[in-house]
Amino acid sequence: MRHAVLSLFLLFNAVFVVIAQPFTLPKLPYAYQDYAPYIDAQTMEIHLTKHHQAYVNNLNKALKGTPYDDYTLEDVLLNKSALSSDAIRNNAGGHYNHSLFWEILAPKAKQGAISADLSKEINTSFGNLDSLKKELNKAAMSRFGSGWAWLILTPELKLAVVSTANQDNPLMHLDAQRGIPIAGIDVWEHAYYLNYQNRRADYLSAVWELLNWQIISEKYQKAKENTALMGRIAPLKKKKKG
Ligand SMILES: [Fe+2]
Repeated sequence: MRHAVLSLFLLFNAVFVVIAQPFTLPKLPYAYQDYAPYIDAQTMEIHLTKHHQAYVNNLNKALKGTPYDDYTLEDVLLNKSALSSDAIRNNAGGHYNHSLFWEILAPKAKQGAISADLSKEINTSFGNLDSLKKELNKAAMSRFGSGWAWLILTPELKLAVVSTANQDNPLMHLDAQRGIPIAGIDVWEHAYYLNYQNRRADYLSAVWELLNWQIISEKYQKAKENTALMGRIAPLKKKKKG
C-alpha cells in the first residue's frame, strides 16, 4: 500500500513537472534556408534556437512558483502585477513577439494574398499599402536601441502603427497606444546583424519581401472577432489639455 501511495506521489510530481513548464518553442513554418536571401539561414537558426529558446526557458523559470504559473501567455501579458517582474515582462514579451514574427514570415513562393477587408482598412487608415510601409519603417528606424515596430488593431477597431522598446508589446499596460498585434517587425540587432551588420534599413526592406499578407489578414480578422481580448485592453487615455 505504502509503495502504491509513493508511486502515485512520484507520478503526480512527474506530471506536475511537465505542466509547470508550459511554454515551448514553436516550430518555424519553413526551413531556415527558405528565408534566404532576405534573411540568411544562420540568422534564422540562431534567432529561433538561441534567442527565442532563451526567452521560453527564462519565462518558464520566472513563472515557476508564482501565482501566474498556469496563466496563458496573453493572461501574463495583460497582468500588471505579473509584469512588475522584469524577468516575466521581458521573457513573456520575447516569447509572444517572436512567435508572431515567425508566423507572418514566408518565402515568396509560399506567401498568400492580402484579404479584401484588410486591404480596404489599410487604404482607409493609411491611404495605401505603400504609406503603411513608410509608417512602419519609420517606427522601426526611429526605435532607439532594441525593440519592435507593430501594426495593431486598437480597441476602437482602427489600424495603427506603434513601436515598443525591448520585448514589450501593445497588449501590455503601456503608456502608449494599445491593441492586438496584427504584424510585428523585430528590430533587435540579433535579427539582422550577421547579414546586414548595422544596416537596419536594408534589413527592413528584406523583411517586407517576406511578409505573408494572407496570415496577417487572418490575424486582422481574428483580432476583430476577439471581443473578449479586446475588452481587456483599455483604450489610450486622452491627455488633458492645458
Ligand atoms: Fe528577436
